[in-house]
Amino acid sequence: MNYDVENIKNAAIAEVEGASDLKQIDDIRIKYLGKKGEITQLMKTMGALPADERPAFGAIVNSARGAVEDALNAKKAAMESVAIQNKMLSEKIDVTMPGVKPVLGSVHPLTKVLNQIKQIFVGMGFVIAEGPEVEKDYYNFDALNIPPTHSARDEDDTFYIDGFDDVLLRTQTSSVQIRVMEHQKPPIRMVAPGRVYRSDAVDATHSPMFHQIEGLVVDKGVTMADLKGTLSDFVNNLYGEKIDVRFRPHHFQFTEPSAEMDISCPNCGGKGCNVCKGEGWIEILGAGMVHAKVLERCGIDPNVYSGFAFGLGLERIAMRSLGINDLRLFYENDVRFLNQF
Ligand code: DAH
Repeated sequence: MNYDVENIKNAAIAEVEGASDLKQIDDIRIKYLGKKGEITQLMKTMGALPADERPAFGAIVNSARGAVEDALNAKKAAMESVAIQNKMLSEKIDVTMPGVKPVLGSVHPLTKVLNQIKQIFVGMGFVIAEGPEVEKDYYNFDALNIPPTHSARDEDDTFYIDGFDDVLLRTQTSSVQIRVMEHQKPPIRMVAPGRVYRSDAVDATHSPMFHQIEGLVVDKGVTMADLKGTLSDFVNNLYGEKIDVRFRPHHFQFTEPSAEMDISCPNCGGKGCNVCKGEGWIEILGAGMVHAKVLERCGIDPNVYSGFAFGLGLERIAMRSLGINDLRLFYENDVRFLNQF
């Protein structure tokens, strides 16, 4: 009997020695010391012994159990300390290493100029409005007094949405004028920046997607003088007091009268240079008094109210402001370019 105990104990300790992970240690514990474990079972055979032999046998089994437990605990502790050691080695940090500098992003130049423009108009009491880029032709054309036969509706200029003959990618932010006037009665003073789309081939000055900023003011007694004053102020805020403006008669379907506004060339001060192509002036926006038919269609009485509107191209202004001669740079997002702003 005692011989068996010794054998089992030795076998258990040998297994513990050979164990190579914590799972094996657990398995060995169960195999020998668990409820049905070999050493636990030995204890149960004690009842078959004569009463006077039981205490001695019990002591032997208990000491075997203790020896196996000690071996298991020691092996487990050794394994855990090796694991911690390895973890510490693999996670070692050299605190003397120079830090990795995070790369700082920058605001996109178009966003930067747009923010400047928005700030100027908000300072004058305008609110920022928004409209959808996927638009119904009613808002992009009809309501702006652009009849179905007008060349701007030509498929060549406009992207229509497949499967619809009345849904398109807006070609101008002027559509937002209509959406605002439909829901808001005068006084209205809003600017609506956003993307517009035209089927143009890409080159240094054209892109099938670009940005416009629309402006609209409607109230009682608004005149062309308000238009001129507001837009001159805007230009002086953006480019400085030295810049002059001039208005040239023009035609837009949705304004009457209509005008284009030029600014004196910020590069040469009006003498003529390669930026203004020797003209001394640069065109920056279209504008005019909102056409009576447009007001009427939005339920605003043109006998009571009048208004002016304008639309400017963000890329053009940003190119002038930042001295950039190729529009494509704005969309390529080369960080060497973007980091300069
Ligand atoms: N929508 C015009 C364009 O894309 C620009 C424009 C001109 C907007 C005159 C206006 C305006 O609001 O009054 O060319």
